Amino acid sequence: IGNENAEYLVSKIRTIPGFPKEGILFRDFMPVLADARAFGLLLDALEAALPVAADEFDIIAGLEARGFLFGPALAARLGKGFIAVRKAGKLPPETVSESYDLEYGQATVEIETNIVHEGSRVLVVDDLIATGGTARAAASLIEKCGGTVAGFSFVMELVGIGGMASLGDCPTSSLITMP
Ligand code: PRP
Ligand code: ADE
Repeated sequence: IGNENAEYLVSKIRTIPGFPKEGILFRDFMPVLADARAFGLLLDALEAALPVAADEFDIIAGLEARGFLFGPALAARLGKGFIAVRKAGKLPPETVSESYDLEYGQATVEIETNIVHEGSRVLVVDDLIATGGTARAAASLIEKCGGTVAGFSFVMELVGIGGMASLGDCPTSSLITMP
């Protein structure tokens, strides 16, 4: 997307120290979505940085809540469908669940059992990877349903926490690296 565009995109990420708890530097990409130029650049950059070619995955899975904000837009651009990986208790029965630890708490995610087709190759997207707990939980759900994870695509990667490394040798990409 070029240096000037990349700088513009990064300038729309807001940092809130001490949210939601003391000691956390919260990285907020909502201002990117609120700005038409930055939102377009975000989708351009995600598309350009896909961890695998578009013909190597069948569908995109996005993580609640922030992965829902751009995952469907990216999927529509690429001519793919979208699967919602939800926080516990939101989906009608026939779900598989997985619990995990976060930088600031604990959570459980769920997916509808029959939404992932046997052998389906899934690209997992989210705004940010910190510990990688959320992304690993999503991957485990996809695998429990008979799918395979083709890759992971993130907007931001927090360094020094080991999130990316925890995803093993699956292809990954992130647009912005931050402490
Ligand atoms: C944030 C973020 C990722 C996750 C990353 O979501 O959007 O999903 O944490 O952390 P991890 O790599 O340590 O798992 P959060 O659970 O705060 O929920 P939200 O998107 O609903 O705000
Ligand atoms: N999810 C986990 N850690 C985070 C952080 N520092 N900022 C925003 N979202 C997060």
